[in-house]
Amino acid sequence: MITVVGSFVVDLMSRTPHMPVAGETVLGGPFRMGPGGKGGNQAVAAARCGSPVNMVTKLGKDDFGEMAKRTFLAENINIDYTPIDPEEATGAALIIVEQSSENMIVVALGACGKLSREDIYKAEDAISKSDIVLTQLETSVEAVVTTVEIAKKHGVPVILNTAPYQEFPKEILKDIAYVTPNETEAGYLSGIPVVDDDSALKAAAAIQAMGVKTVIITMGKRGCLLFEGPEKYEFVPSFKLDNVVDTTGAGDAFNGGFAHAIATGMSLKEAARFASAVAGLSVTKIGTAPAMPRIEDVEAFLAAH
Ligand code: RIB
Ligand code: NA
Repeated sequence: MITVVGSFVVDLMSRTPHMPVAGETVLGGPFRMGPGGKGGNQAVAAARCGSPVNMVTKLGKDDFGEMAKRTFLAENINIDYTPIDPEEATGAALIIVEQSSENMIVVALGACGKLSREDIYKAEDAISKSDIVLTQLETSVEAVVTTVEIAKKHGVPVILNTAPYQEFPKEILKDIAYVTPNETEAGYLSGIPVVDDDSALKAAAAIQAMGVKTVIITMGKRGCLLFEGPEKYEFVPSFKLDNVVDTTGAGDAFNGGFAHAIATGMSLKEAARFASAVAGLSVTKIGTAPAMPRIEDVEAFLAAH
């Protein structure tokens, strides 16, 4: 069982031939709306892989909150530990996807940014029974710190996906089993800009020195670096794909897939390959949570590659 603590927001998306510059209005393609938020996306990815998942987030008492409930229910994701905040709106993300399939996002967290220490303690039972806990930085720092504290108390390993980057108390890293920054976030965490394999290795070593056990730097189509120590690391290539339509949520697909893989006992290398397949399949579909692949497709893809 996996417990995900983090965001749910509704994604409001349009495509455009080029990103607008300051002051510019550009014409977009069709408008799409769907469930998103890094926490929710990761939960859906893990659930579609076959893991039982608890989602701990916070919703408003509004239509977007109803969309969250419908989504999680349809995926068999337990939301018993997700409170409703009558004062706050459910979050939303404004997403622009360019022709090249690259994206830009502004996320307004709303209710899920108000997850409190008390809210997380209400989920202690779920956390304590989990094989792995997965959290991101797309919620309050208080929620992340409390999640790590409770997981530590019960000896449950934590995956921290440092997206989107915001400052947090670095002491918690010593209680984290896996940290999964992308290149930019690895740069922020370590102070070493990640531009190539060599700088990725230096950044990973610096992050590990902060106390985390395993550092995984995801590098988009270049694959990922698995770093367990200066003498124990490996670059795992990503899968070559020729039908990429939307890379939004690829990092979430990777993290959800990785959590499932670790929870089911795969080795680090196998888990990275599995997670890369989940991420690879997700970019061949438009959208975020709805684009997460199902286990049959992941298995067929892995068998074919
Ligand atoms: O990682 C992609 C997600 O980030 C989107 O679903 C959007 O909600 C933003 O939070
Ligand atoms: Na996608």
